[in-house]
Amino acid sequence: MDHPPLWYKDAVFYELSIKGFYDGNHDGYGDFVGAIQKLDYLRDLGVDTLWLLPFYQSPWRDDGYDISDYYQVHPTYGSLEDFDRFIQEAHRRDLRVVADLVMNHVSQDHPWFQEARADPQSPKRNWFVWSDTDQKYRGVRVIFVDTERSNWTWDPVAKQYFWHRFYSHQPDLNYDNPEVREEMFRVVQFWMKRGIDGFRCDAVPYLFEREGTSCENLPETHAFFKDLRARVEAEFPGRILLAEANQWPADVKAYFGNEDEFHMAFNFPLMPRIFIAIAREVHHPITDIVMQTLPIPATCAWGIFLRNHDELTLEMVTNEERDFMYHEYAKLPVMRLNLGIRRRLAPLVDDDRRLLELLHGLLFSLPGVPVLYYGDELGMGDNVFLGDRNGVRTPMQWSPDRNAGFSRVDPEMLYLPVITNPNFHYESRNVEAEVRLSSSLLRWIQRILAVRRRYARVFGRGEIEFLPHANPSALIFLRRYEGQTVLCVFNLSRRSVALELSLPQFKEYTPLELRGNTRFPRIGELPYFFTLGEHEWFWFELLPPEPASTSPPPSSVPPSP
Ligand code: GLC
Repeated sequence: MDHPPLWYKDAVFYELSIKGFYDGNHDGYGDFVGAIQKLDYLRDLGVDTLWLLPFYQSPWRDDGYDISDYYQVHPTYGSLEDFDRFIQEAHRRDLRVVADLVMNHVSQDHPWFQEARADPQSPKRNWFVWSDTDQKYRGVRVIFVDTERSNWTWDPVAKQYFWHRFYSHQPDLNYDNPEVREEMFRVVQFWMKRGIDGFRCDAVPYLFEREGTSCENLPETHAFFKDLRARVEAEFPGRILLAEANQWPADVKAYFGNEDEFHMAFNFPLMPRIFIAIAREVHHPITDIVMQTLPIPATCAWGIFLRNHDELTLEMVTNEERDFMYHEYAKLPVMRLNLGIRRRLAPLVDDDRRLLELLHGLLFSLPGVPVLYYGDELGMGDNVFLGDRNGVRTPMQWSPDRNAGFSRVDPEMLYLPVITNPNFHYESRNVEAEVRLSSSLLRWIQRILAVRRRYARVFGRGEIEFLPHANPSALIFLRRYEGQTVLCVFNLSRRSVALELSLPQFKEYTPLELRGNTRFPRIGELPYFFTLGEHEWFWFELLPPEPASTSPPPSSVPPSP
């Protein structure tokens, strides 16, 4: 598949769990053969890049983030040939594929760790981080605070402690060892040769450890990724690296390097602040953080998201903000996990359709590449009683049939039960039902993605400028790219707002409302007057005054179906 320059900046990503998408061989688990059958659905939805959650051999104690063989597809998901066919079929539909890559740690079942622990003389011993005491690197935070008390675990076989930033069954690899670094390059090569268009690199801040530091974002870690980038560029030009670095703005931005490290990074700082802004009905949590996360180098992009397969993380907010988020969005203690909230998007906002549309309006027009999480396009529900993050990882809902059309096995054989909560029951919340209803969330997302696709350049690559105005509940900004300007206006509150917007530089311009393709009154001398109902929003292209005889500008195309 070709990779035009900066292709990722114009993309819309879709995070897909092979386990959760479609069961092609009737064993209760999704697989590559099943996912191939659903590629047309994804193309029709209007996304163009698929991010696959880890699909490698694994004991699944952390849902595949605990890899026991980097060179094998998990047998439940199919064979390498099935994987190859998936890539081919995705590419045939112009869908690119980015795979998760877990570099920081392996499963304790991995033969590397088994060899390492069994024999201090083993060549694999030094592939992990060992210590005779658990007192090294003191003060380094524990990430999975609900399960782990320390980043060290005593291994009775090795008779030493080993270092792990996540679960104690996920020993960290030792990146000071050049063999480990070389092995990871081999893994990257292996999958890129099979056609992967990029990697979402998991847990990037934690590769190296140094005494007296937080053991996060160390210079050595950046040097490793710069090296990886250079090698990828040399051998696989056009493929991308996307960083999962859940850090404060300055620390995440550092992963773009000097356009020589990651192409993309998730905008973790922005995500919780979108939820804070809508709950408080004020724009400044969003405007402040967007300003703090910009500028970034021209060839780099943020990946922006509302939800993903993990808990809605609240690690990088203040204590006060975290308390506020829990109070607003996690009323029951069972909804909380570690420092976060384990709920899907629609239940988080009480299935409020206006809010869901507002959130997607923001996701699709703030600077960055939008990343959707499978099922959220249906307004899928969750099940917070399933343990760990399983409640947001239940089977995709395809139809009102048995198991939501995901699988033909007996329901008790499913990897996780489907959602039957009456408010979110799969019998009505599923692809088949929502395709039939033109008012469904799915159809709405399809339509809005079609609009966004027409403006992919300005939203994906354009500058942003926040416009000052008097109402704190309104979020107003311009996106501009190569002479095209889109004005975005959002009412973050439950009350109607009336706004007077001063737009002197656009005098005589005509706002073209993008969703309905409707021309609004021309901007004149006086401030432009808007009223916005509860959670209402608009995108307008600002069309310059036309000399009488010219033809309409190219962007005035008819509304999408
Ligand atoms: C990342 C993944 C998460 C996983 C963790 C450990 O944060 O998103 O699902 O548990 O890494 O690999």
